[in-house]
Amino acid sequence: MQQILDKVEQLKKEIEETQVVNAEQLEKFRIRFLGTKGLVKELMGEMKNVSKEMKKDFGAKLNEFKVFAEDRYEVFKGVGKPSEVKEENFDYTLPAYPSETGSRHPIQLVMQKMISIFERIGFSVAEGPEIEDDWHNFNALNLPENHPARDMQDTFYISKNPDWLLRTHTSSVQVRVMKEGKLPIRQIFPGRVYRNETVSARAHCFFHQVEGLYIDENVSFADLKQTLYHFVKEMFGPDVKVRFRPSFFPFTEPSAEMDVSCFICDSKGCNVCKHTGWVEILGCGMVHPNVLTNCGIDAEKYSGFAWGMGVERTTMMQYGIKDIRILSENDVRFLDQFKNIH
Ligand code: DAH
Repeated sequence: MQQILDKVEQLKKEIEETQVVNAEQLEKFRIRFLGTKGLVKELMGEMKNVSKEMKKDFGAKLNEFKVFAEDRYEVFKGVGKPSEVKEENFDYTLPAYPSETGSRHPIQLVMQKMISIFERIGFSVAEGPEIEDDWHNFNALNLPENHPARDMQDTFYISKNPDWLLRTHTSSVQVRVMKEGKLPIRQIFPGRVYRNETVSARAHCFFHQVEGLYIDENVSFADLKQTLYHFVKEMFGPDVKVRFRPSFFPFTEPSAEMDVSCFICDSKGCNVCKHTGWVEILGCGMVHPNVLTNCGIDAEKYSGFAWGMGVERTTMMQYGIKDIRILSENDVRFLDQFKNIH
């Protein structure tokens, strides 16, 4: 019986996906589903093989399927036989069939805003693969095997080849760009990253980052600060406050994390800022000379800064989204709310 119910589900899907644009297809649909030897009849024939107790449930399911197929047929009839609508009966004043339009995903909206802020000050966009090898994701970034900091990024490895993994950060794209050897570099790298984390309202096993890299002669920490100050003012408004905290990343030295004042509660303290008045938005630092050397860049001559920031948290703050999971559930009731935002 389960097999038949599965078949019903499958056929329902088939009907949902069926498009009818002419009379021939309409007739084909009728014969396949509703004809005397059609699938609805055939499935009804199974009733006799069903045990007494199950008959009621089973019958209801089949009937529902029958009504569904018939309804679709009626809908198709309207579109399937346009030639039968006589010109003089056609009402041109009727509103057009409503066609649904899509919307931009809130993650994309925020990511686009971040990208355009940096584009306006001369950064261009580059992308890299989501399936990376260990060298680009870790080794080249001064994270050799057994380095304890690898634990900070719970990694999904690919069983087919232990050297392959789902990138844990967009910093791997930095490596690819540096290896190309075209200097100076002033680029940002937006993209999706993966971590083996328990999914909850605050964390997901995949999310998005925008990474940035600037390499030239005589680049200093002051350049880093000025670039990121500019970004914050454009992104969050002129009144937002910024603070840097010293931090550690193997690929930068010195390293810092940057917080912005919580614009949800105006720094008064709320759940988003965990009552500190500050929200961490990115990690950054001066590119470690080992990383430059690993990627074939002369660390005596060149220096640079880099940063990496998450997109989800900012998106959630911007739109008051309380659960990160809703961002990847594809629920149209949620997505529809972003229809008129560009
Ligand atoms: N890759 C870091 C992470 O995912 C973020 C980061 C920190 C990127 C500092 C950088 C950087 O480029 O300089 O946690």
